[in-house]
Amino acid sequence: MEVAQRLKKIPPYLFMELRKKIAKAKADGVDVISLTIGDPVEATPAPIIEELCQRAKDPENHRYPTDEEKGMLAFRQEVARWYSSRYGVELDPATEILGLIGSKEGCHHFVMARVDPGDTVLMTDPGYPAYRASILMGEGVPYNVPILPENGYLPVFADIPTDVAKKATGMFLNYPNNPTGACATKDFLNDLVAFAKAFDIAICYDNPYSEVLFDGQQRLSFLSAPGAKDVGIELNSLSKPYNMCGWRLGMASGNPLLIAAISKVKENTDSGIFNPIQYAGIRALKYETDAIGETMKIYARRREQVLATLKKIGIDFTPPKGTFYLWVPVPKGMTSIEFTNLLFDKAAVVVAAGTAYGKYGEGFVRFSLTVPDDRLTLALSRIEKEFGKV
Ligand SMILES: Cc1ncc(COP(=O)(O)O)c(C=O)c1O
Repeated sequence: MEVAQRLKKIPPYLFMELRKKIAKAKADGVDVISLTIGDPVEATPAPIIEELCQRAKDPENHRYPTDEEKGMLAFRQEVARWYSSRYGVELDPATEILGLIGSKEGCHHFVMARVDPGDTVLMTDPGYPAYRASILMGEGVPYNVPILPENGYLPVFADIPTDVAKKATGMFLNYPNNPTGACATKDFLNDLVAFAKAFDIAICYDNPYSEVLFDGQQRLSFLSAPGAKDVGIELNSLSKPYNMCGWRLGMASGNPLLIAAISKVKENTDSGIFNPIQYAGIRALKYETDAIGETMKIYARRREQVLATLKKIGIDFTPPKGTFYLWVPVPKGMTSIEFTNLLFDKAAVVVAAGTAYGKYGEGFVRFSLTVPDDRLTLALSRIEKEFGKV
């Protein structure tokens, strides 16, 4: 039996060799420490869990959550309140907000809702790999827009060839950015809206790290740019700020036409989000937002710890101010994969090679700060001991 062609186009995991080495080392009893995944290890705040448990006892919540096709109205109202109070963005819960099973789902459904086979879809390089997979599953054609350190890892719209922009029907962007940590500016968002309007490109602004910021960096929503709702949607998620990755809860907000189209995709794909999870989401957005500050203190501490160790081994740089990733330049003369392999061979520490996020990721590796403190400390002490100065 053959699987569908569209799946064959999705690139395989790039680092099979490293993956094999890790599996072998683990089988040989080596204590491998992975700093690859962006998945908070701290628990979801207790009141959120309690809300879920209580709501799960009500048989009304055991039925299909299909009464309100865009997700529970109470959840959407809470999202609207959160956006208004946190970002100064006003949204109509009836037409401009949709509950999602995480923002990743939104990336896929955005393509289903907007992109026809053969359409060009812009995405950044480096970028979150799910964008390419979503575009390919929707039989669109990904076009990589480089984001470079000298431009603050923001796309330069003037560098996108006009014929490409004319063909494009969609664009994925994500700031605070995975993997670089870069943040957008208001001016950039204004330029983005103008670019999207000029070429009729629908924007999918993926913003799950909107709350994960350091050193006084201001929160920013794409939807706060004048005209943003005319050209696109913003995805957001409870995964990262509330330590809720496993709960699968997010939201799409913005352009009513796109929201209705994604809602149609969802109606025909899944039957919505388990109601107790939506109630728990309301609890999180309403009462637990202050806890984000405490979580950020943990990441800030770990971030300083990693930066201090890297400095000691000769890697000294000033990182951008968003996300719980550090986009670390590799030592001169080495490729990303060589440095990744070296860290693994010498210290049994795994980081993500920059090229996993696109060819412009060459020269960097990504460290994630979502590791228990003791594991991070151990990983860093091994790096310091093994590397001296690289
Ligand atoms: C840029 C980006 N978008 C989306 C996601 C997925 O988030 P969610 O858990 O809301 O699906 C991630 C997760 O790492 C991410 O880095």
